[in-house]
Amino acid sequence: MEQIKRTRIADLLKAPAFGTTVNAKGWVRTRRGNKNVNFIALNDGSTIHNLQIVVDLSNFSEDMLKDITTGACISVNGLLVESVGSGQAAEVQAKEIEILGGCDNTYPLQKKGHSMEFLRDVAHLRPRTNTFGAVFRIRHNMAMAIHTFFHEKGFYYFHTPIITASDCEGAGQMFQVTTMNLYDLKKTETGSIDYSGDFFGKQTSLTVSGQLEGELAATALGAIYTFGPTFRAENSNTPRHLAEFWMVEPEVAFADLDELTALEEEFIKYCVKWALDNCADDLAFLNKMIDPGLIERLQGVISTDFVRLPYTEGVRILEEAVKNGRKFEFPVYWGADLASEHERYLVEEHFKKPVIMVDYPKEIKAFYMKQNADGKTVQGTDVLFPQIGEIIGGSVREENYDKLKARIDELHVPMKDMWWYLDTRRYGTCPHAGFGLGFERLLLFVTGMQNIRDVIPFPRTPNNAAF
Ligand code: 4AD
Ligand code: MG
Repeated sequence: MEQIKRTRIADLLKAPAFGTTVNAKGWVRTRRGNKNVNFIALNDGSTIHNLQIVVDLSNFSEDMLKDITTGACISVNGLLVESVGSGQAAEVQAKEIEILGGCDNTYPLQKKGHSMEFLRDVAHLRPRTNTFGAVFRIRHNMAMAIHTFFHEKGFYYFHTPIITASDCEGAGQMFQVTTMNLYDLKKTETGSIDYSGDFFGKQTSLTVSGQLEGELAATALGAIYTFGPTFRAENSNTPRHLAEFWMVEPEVAFADLDELTALEEEFIKYCVKWALDNCADDLAFLNKMIDPGLIERLQGVISTDFVRLPYTEGVRILEEAVKNGRKFEFPVYWGADLASEHERYLVEEHFKKPVIMVDYPKEIKAFYMKQNADGKTVQGTDVLFPQIGEIIGGSVREENYDKLKARIDELHVPMKDMWWYLDTRRYGTCPHAGFGLGFERLLLFVTGMQNIRDVIPFPRTPNNAAF
């Protein structure tokens, strides 16, 4: 076969140099035709669109073509010509075809319209479907949007550790990391496990959040963000929870509550606009095949002002709804940790736009949140989104040493693990604030996918760590 430099299908279709001989490589989606001509739909992942390869059977043997089956990998040299029938601007008239990798008939992606559940069982192959190709191209684009947003605003990308000894959220949902022999655990005199011989000489786990180390960085570099994997051993088998998910956590020195919520809103809008500007073909596909309201919803979010709603006011609205006959599974009262049905009522039915709830009862929030003068509430914020519920959790941080220490003692947060965190409040403490955005929750919103397992390549959930 003649050696011609490969061109990505996205580029072949974008500005087709008609009349030139090109090389394309990719995976066969379908081959159809008659005894005179065959049409191969070829995809190389660079775009949702397939390149149509026209094969004149007078130049190729049936015997060779029979191995060009769905899933096979081929290399094609041919003439790039204007297309009338393929739905694309261009197609390729094949001159030479090489089969790089045949595909046997056990290939699971034979027909269209597999269920999402089935595709999770073949997660090693599902990126080759239109839907998952679109989702993972958008996932990449959202990562680029996040880095670009923060870089342009002067935030530094700061890498916080994955192995840690502190439970930032205090919820006790950590996965332990150990090299100890589990068949022969050494005990201390008091009968608890002796970690002194473990790899780190103490009990360690996978991080649930990079925030605490992020705060150290913000009080030195001014504004930082983390973006990495996060782990939670919560047994929540829901379409919105993963045991391993990615979180983006900016932390800003000198920011107050208003600046924090403004940053949250600006950040999400920037990401959504990036998707509309850079992922048009993939969004059009998802809008057509997965969620007919998707693009309209994305456009709606960038052109609407998010509501700022004190928790107390939110509870009042919910109680009012209950009085008027609205039924919820879980009770609503001041002090309750709102369930996702409550959050979605506020966002989807009452306000019909994203809501940033602020000033939560301190009992339902983490130890580090700045305490308000009322003695009852803290400056925590949750950003609540249509379809998703909570997409961001954040707060102004308690910068006062005595107040923070008192809260740590009250909640029995292990002090010996917190000394370095408390040091920031002792050495030039400053007001600061930050938040965490669940990357996969953002992707659920931007792609219109219904289950969080379908926006991460290889999901980890209870009883599932395949691939
Ligand atoms: O509200 P969370 O627990 O907040 C924190 O971890 C803070 N330390 C963040 C900060 O202030 N720097 O989690 C933040 C976000 C949630 O709003 C949600 O979007 C996502 O992380 N999240 C999950 N996403 C998928 N699966 C899970 N199990 C998640 N738990 C939280
Ligand atoms: Mg939260």
